[in-house]
Amino acid sequence: MGAPSFLNEIDSRKAERHQQGRDRSLPQNSAPISFSDNDYLGLAKHPAVLLSAQEAIKKHGTSARAARLLAGLCPEHQSLESALALWKQSERALLFASGYLTPLGVIPALVGPSDTILLERNAHACLFDGAKLSEARLRLFPRQDMSALRQMLDSTRKVNPTGKILLVVESLHSMDGDFAPLEEIIRLKSEAGAWLLLDEAHAGGICGPEGSGRAAELGLTSAIDLQMGTLGKALGSAGGFIAGQAKIIDHLLNEARTFLFGTALPPASARAALTALSIIRSTEGEHLRQTLRKNITLFRSESTSTQLGPIHPILCTTNSDATASSKILKDQGLEVPAIRTPTVPTGTARLRISLSARHSESEIGLLAESLKALPKS
Ligand SMILES: Cc1ncc(COP(=O)(O)O)c(C=O)c1O
Repeated sequence: MGAPSFLNEIDSRKAERHQQGRDRSLPQNSAPISFSDNDYLGLAKHPAVLLSAQEAIKKHGTSARAARLLAGLCPEHQSLESALALWKQSERALLFASGYLTPLGVIPALVGPSDTILLERNAHACLFDGAKLSEARLRLFPRQDMSALRQMLDSTRKVNPTGKILLVVESLHSMDGDFAPLEEIIRLKSEAGAWLLLDEAHAGGICGPEGSGRAAELGLTSAIDLQMGTLGKALGSAGGFIAGQAKIIDHLLNEARTFLFGTALPPASARAALTALSIIRSTEGEHLRQTLRKNITLFRSESTSTQLGPIHPILCTTNSDATASSKILKDQGLEVPAIRTPTVPTGTARLRISLSARHSESEIGLLAESLKALPKS
């Protein structure tokens, strides 16, 4: 028997993707008005953020040059971690090179084969991948279904009374744009003695006191064991972080492999995020959040969307319909991505609209009109 052919399999998987309308390629150009990025407050091009990144590059160069424990002291990383811990009302925070790498390091450092992870069925890929790497038993529950979660917590406890249970939830869902029922989730996880890792990637900066997120908005921060965030969305930079008790962060610093064994995030990214964070916490940040809320209200009034945050899915019948609609919008100057399987479950292909404080009323009006004019799929 001949050796299996890598290239044959690559070809047949491409053909399969093509047939399902989910083959991807890098875009060759972008439409001028972006509703596709997660720069919710427009800070990625804020003059003060740009200036501080430039200063950090002059001082430290373009790279951290090694993993954090090897590279030597970098005040940018330390100042940002202190500021993030304060913002998240937690004892300590730890930076990772990206949001994606954060749960890949954190989850396997906390649970293993004798434990259980309860994860939302449509959670972000990095939460799935972190869960799989940990080798813990993985159980999936429907995001808003609290009676399913209660039953799953009960049955997990019965089957494995001594194992740890880690519950992993996105506070604002990256693709559906809905907020999780956090009060109920916290009640249930506390009754079951489980820990909660709350991914605030999309809520950080846009809601709560000083933009500190959904948990803080609901006054629930102290009940959350681990608060995860990214610097790559409202904070206009790149990188990820986890915040929690000092003892847990010290454990992660020693055992989270994506922290230990990868080059630290560039000092300029840390400096940019620190400046963005100080803007987010200031009255200027409050004005930006007000503008974002105004834009959300305007879009809701001119579309069928019912979501309260900046992420608005418009469901399409098939992957190909989503791609075709995205192309029509692009031809009108609007960048609105088609989100297809496997990013979202089969049968839920969509356009994903991401609103920002930097959008003008006329841009939102144009988007709403263009959406109404799309062929019905
Ligand atoms: C919910 C969620 N968590 C984590 C991440 C990863 O963050 P980053 O893009 O900063 O790597 C994303 C990215 O889109 C996300 O949507």
